[in-house]
Amino acid sequence: MKTRLAKLVLAIGRECAQREFAWMKRSQHAGDLNLLDMLDRRIAGEPLQYILGTLPFGPLDLLTRSPTLIPRPETEDWAIRLARTLAPSMTSPVRVLDLCTGSGCIPLLLCHLWPPASTHAVGVDISPDAVRLAADNTSRSSTHGRQNIFTPLQGDIHDPDLLHRLDPPPPFDVITANPPYIPLHVYHSLPSSVKDYEDPRALIGDPPNASHTDGLSFYRTIAALLARKGVLAPHATIALEVGHDQAHAVVQILRHTPGLPLGPMEIWKDPWDKDRVVFARAA
Ligand SMILES: C[S@@+](CC[C@H](N)C(=O)[O-])C[C@H]1O[C@@H](n2cnc3c(N)ncnc32)[C@H](O)[C@@H]1O
Repeated sequence: MKTRLAKLVLAIGRECAQREFAWMKRSQHAGDLNLLDMLDRRIAGEPLQYILGTLPFGPLDLLTRSPTLIPRPETEDWAIRLARTLAPSMTSPVRVLDLCTGSGCIPLLLCHLWPPASTHAVGVDISPDAVRLAADNTSRSSTHGRQNIFTPLQGDIHDPDLLHRLDPPPPFDVITANPPYIPLHVYHSLPSSVKDYEDPRALIGDPPNASHTDGLSFYRTIAALLARKGVLAPHATIALEVGHDQAHAVVQILRHTPGLPLGPMEIWKDPWDKDRVVFARAA
């Protein structure tokens, strides 16, 4: 155990190693053998959240499994802010569409924080692993007990027929997305603790056949989807997570998409004072 702890200190520094070791010991399966295994995995570079298998996300305790993206604290921050900004109720319920849903963290948080019977959400993801994880997270969270519904759906946001498969169907009152937004050249320089464990499709902002390389391809697709007739309910709210230097470009994409009538847009900062969300309302 001592040698492994020393190796962990070398890998991530004394303070982090002490903190993470304490979490590992507290984790529910932490017998001695398991602890050794956890230390070996962490020394090899695996993210702690995959080793522990769960992650707090606001009041939720979400399952985490490679290769589905580990929900980030900046996403948790704006999802809580969004929940506080809107006030659906049983008599004024909302339909939510979460694009690129991953673990389902965003709609599950909204379903949890909003009043019972106020929220009917669907989350779309191309990855079967992500959809399975989102379904497992739905089963273990109390959304149904609260009479709010979240259904994860496997689908491609580029598919022109996607809208016909959604339940609830359009129009949507709230559209959220944390799409892949990292340009390919930046992806190459990410640490192996990210690249070796998280799905590249969850990170790289331009799919292989995309006509741009700026990391913004998903926002163009999302804007075109939202501009389709009948997708947005009157005064619908849109919240899109963006890379720290992408907010103004995403505002321009939304602004210049034909058929997408939006009011003034806001840029929300994350807790580290970086631009993180483009927030808009349908005019
Ligand atoms: C940055 S992750 C966000 C996951 C989750 N919403 C979160 O905030 O943690 C982006 C997600 O988009 C999904 N994705 C990638 N390409 C997609 C596509 N064409 N259609 C739908 N989902 C896609 C990935 O599988 C991944 O789960």
